[in-house]
Amino acid sequence: MQLTRTGPIRISLIHGPNLNMLGVRDPDTYGKDTFDSVNKKIEAHAKTLGMEIKIQHSNSEGAIVDFVQDAMGWASAIVINPGAYTHYSYAIRDAIADSRLPTVEVHLSNVQAREEFRRHSVISPVSTGQVVGFGPYGYLMALNAAKNLLEESHR
Ligand code: DQA
Repeated sequence: MQLTRTGPIRISLIHGPNLNMLGVRDPDTYGKDTFDSVNKKIEAHAKTLGMEIKIQHSNSEGAIVDFVQDAMGWASAIVINPGAYTHYSYAIRDAIADSRLPTVEVHLSNVQAREEFRRHSVISPVSTGQVVGFGPYGYLMALNAAKNLLEESHR
């Protein structure tokens, strides 16, 4: 994992498939906040933490691999909700491992309390840690965790 850093903390925040439908999609599971409002909260929180943030979304696996590769050389850490790719994308898993960037995996819902197939993440073994089940607030927790991780590594 890459923990050397100079300058401001830069976060590449990546939303996977169907997350652009937040607010419309299954609100009982994912909440009523829209995708735009969630991103605004993330941006505001990043600002209070003094971070630079780039938020990207794609429904496509290859585009998400590209986002992870683009984070190398720019970002200090990745925050990612890979959506359903969490459960089977070895391509995203390999990209995260190859990036050697600290990575916080976020899930809005408590995936452990849902269908069996959601209980397994192929991303978790290459993530620094996971934030699961706290809705959109989980992204803010992930930013706090990334900041703490990067600052601790400088002590
Ligand atoms: C999700 C959980 C996944 O199982 C699901 O496919 C999603 C969203 C979450 O944020 O809870 O798309 O990653």
